[in-house]
Amino acid sequence: MIVVAGGTGTLGTRLIPRLAGQGLAVRVLTRDPARARHLGPGVEVVHGDVRDPAAAGRALHGASTVISAMHGFAGPGGISPASVDRGGNARLIDAAARTGAAFILVSVAGASPGHPIGLFRAKYAAEEMLRASGIPWIVVRATAFMETWGTIMGEPLRSSGKIPVFGKGDNPVNFVSATDVAALVSHAVASPGLHGQVLELGGPDNLTFNQVAAIVQQATGCRGALRHIPRLALRATACVTAVIKPALARQARAALAMDTIDMTFDSTAARQAFPDLPNTDMPSALKDLLA
Ligand SMILES: NC(=O)c1ccc[n+]([C@@H]2O[C@H](COP(=O)([O-])OP(=O)(O)OC[C@H]3O[C@@H](n4cnc5c(N)ncnc54)[C@H](OP(=O)(O)O)[C@@H]3O)[C@@H](O)[C@H]2O)c1
Repeated sequence: MIVVAGGTGTLGTRLIPRLAGQGLAVRVLTRDPARARHLGPGVEVVHGDVRDPAAAGRALHGASTVISAMHGFAGPGGISPASVDRGGNARLIDAAARTGAAFILVSVAGASPGHPIGLFRAKYAAEEMLRASGIPWIVVRATAFMETWGTIMGEPLRSSGKIPVFGKGDNPVNFVSATDVAALVSHAVASPGLHGQVLELGGPDNLTFNQVAAIVQQATGCRGALRHIPRLALRATACVTAVIKPALARQARAALAMDTIDMTFDSTAARQAFPDLPNTDMPSALKDLLA
């Protein structure tokens, strides 16, 4: 039994059909079973929240492999990287150790203890817990998802005619398709030879947000206008909302970091190591997303 936390998300929605399609028994842990409806009838759904210590144990009953494809960076329910990526993964790792399951952690490329983005620090902490756990593990680190950013920039374009660009938008960032990452995670499930390894995956291009905006315009056929949110406004948002709206403050801080720090990635080594993975580019990923 493969148990997936985060099976309802952007990555999970592309991963679960792959696993189920290989005839594997799959169970998805979600806080809201309605969010798992589109995954199909063959997938077992268990209701629970990784912040609840009992839920992880229940969800992992009989598991042979656990996949953590969740995060607490943004989303409903007052989640945070501390409570989900750090605390929630700690609970899943403990439960996996009790069950004797292998663990695949989906993390972020660049995760490190001193990273300016809190999510990257929390992911690194989860990686460290996994390394110390004694259970068989694989870490899959990915760059920013094309589909996530296509949605963040494309939805406002459709609803208001404007595409948000955080900061100057001229800092190159690597984007990978969640479809490619799903293929790598699925490969990892079937590859015990990869236990103990950190697999890093990026996409074919490092693109600035101004370039992504142009691709979004082309994919949607909707020109709209770019609405740059100045760095000063991002800094002010991060300060003013830190206590009352921590999720918004977190997003503003992350947007600032993405506009200023090195977010590029060279995918050559991973692509050579896994030549059978799809290598989706941004226009194709957005075309699939819109379809
Ligand atoms: N998006 C990116 O740009 C990006 C880049 C690199 C790596 N990643 C990593 O890839 C993985 C998937 O990300 P994604 O963008 O596909 O996620 P997503 O679409 O934002 O979905 C988040 C998922 O996390 C689950 N989740 C959040 N809090 C939870 C909690 N307290 N208990 C149980 N489940 C919880 C949600 O499940 P329910 O809402 O159903 O409970 C949902 O399935 C994550 O590990 C993420 O850090 C993402």
